[in-house]
Amino acid sequence: MISTRFTELVGCSKAIMLAPMAGVSGGNLAAAVTRGGGFAFIVAGHAKDSDAEAFDAEVEIMKTTEKRRFGIGFIGHSSMAGGDLKRIEAILDRHQPLAAQFFAPPILPDGSNVKLCKDKGVLVFAQVGSVEEARQALNCGVDCIIAQGREAGGHGLRSELGTGTLPLATRVVDLAHEISPQTVVLAAGGITDGRGLAAALSLGCDGIVLGTRLWASHEALGDPSGTKREALLNSDSDDVLRTRTFDTLQYVDNPTAWPNPYDSVGALKNKTTAEWHGKEDELEKIMQNSGDTTLSIYREANLAGDVTRACVLAGEGVGNVCRLHSAEDIVRVIEEEAVAEIRRINSLIKRT
Ligand SMILES: Cc1cc2nc3c(=O)[nH]c(=O)nc-3n(C[C@H](O)[C@H](O)[C@H](O)COP(=O)(O)O)c2cc1C
Repeated sequence: MISTRFTELVGCSKAIMLAPMAGVSGGNLAAAVTRGGGFAFIVAGHAKDSDAEAFDAEVEIMKTTEKRRFGIGFIGHSSMAGGDLKRIEAILDRHQPLAAQFFAPPILPDGSNVKLCKDKGVLVFAQVGSVEEARQALNCGVDCIIAQGREAGGHGLRSELGTGTLPLATRVVDLAHEISPQTVVLAAGGITDGRGLAAALSLGCDGIVLGTRLWASHEALGDPSGTKREALLNSDSDDVLRTRTFDTLQYVDNPTAWPNPYDSVGALKNKTTAEWHGKEDELEKIMQNSGDTTLSIYREANLAGDVTRACVLAGEGVGNVCRLHSAEDIVRVIEEEAVAEIRRINSLIKRT
């Protein structure tokens, strides 16, 4: 068993966390990860009042497995828009999770989201994509910091602003030692197996966050036609791109649009990115022309699960994801692999 400051902090047996993935991380997936020994976040995302009923139902599913040892993930720019924490507070009061995760941005300028959680005895997890974001979060005394590298699936900093998982996690570990030594550090982005867990531990991290690997599991929400998860299994790491194309299409006239610098996603390349990646300003203008069909073609593809045009979020680790498994098994196997990997590395050291 691998025991770290993370497993001690949240009281789980494996140093593996399920990312709060919008449309994916619901009660069944969180419960399966927890049964496997990991720590799971359910996604509240934008925390819209209109989503409250569906969200509460997912938390209730989780609570049949574990009453309090789970987390809730919030998307900062929308759930705390204008510094208003009322909806977050209501969710924390209703469900009393062990932890809350914040991302994009992870911390309000006055640190009030951190204070709110601390006052309620809720652990604060901050997901950061740069050294500067990490410094701000560490200065606020967060309990756990997630170093999300550019190779991650889903939203993250624009490509030119983000940093790869390996250098970012290394820097965040060192910064945490300097600024807030009690803060636990996790690595996220491109990690899909026990080799990744062993690598993160050797950088000085306390564990890993899995997105893409657990999106390709039996318990993931969404994808009713199954075409998106099939696309994950059939894709290699070269098929992933960090792009603003899908945000430009998806959030046209949408009040929860992701702001710069968070308006890019790690996703599978397809006909849509072949046409528009790098030309997003032009795409925005074209969509304003009456009679233009670009947006309706994209929306139809998403509804039909047509992955040749729809957005399939994925990180660069996808090439290592070849079969659907249950999340419980994924978590167990990753730890076994990491133990074997650490033993293998240990055996490289020869007595002279
Ligand atoms: C399908 C999908 C949806 C995601 N949605 C969210 C989200 O709502 N909130 C969040 O904090 N991160 C989200 N992420 C990013 C994850 O938190 C995490 O940083 C990332 O998945 C790690 O990289 P990996 O996908 O290579 O494992 C999402 C990732 C994926 C793949």
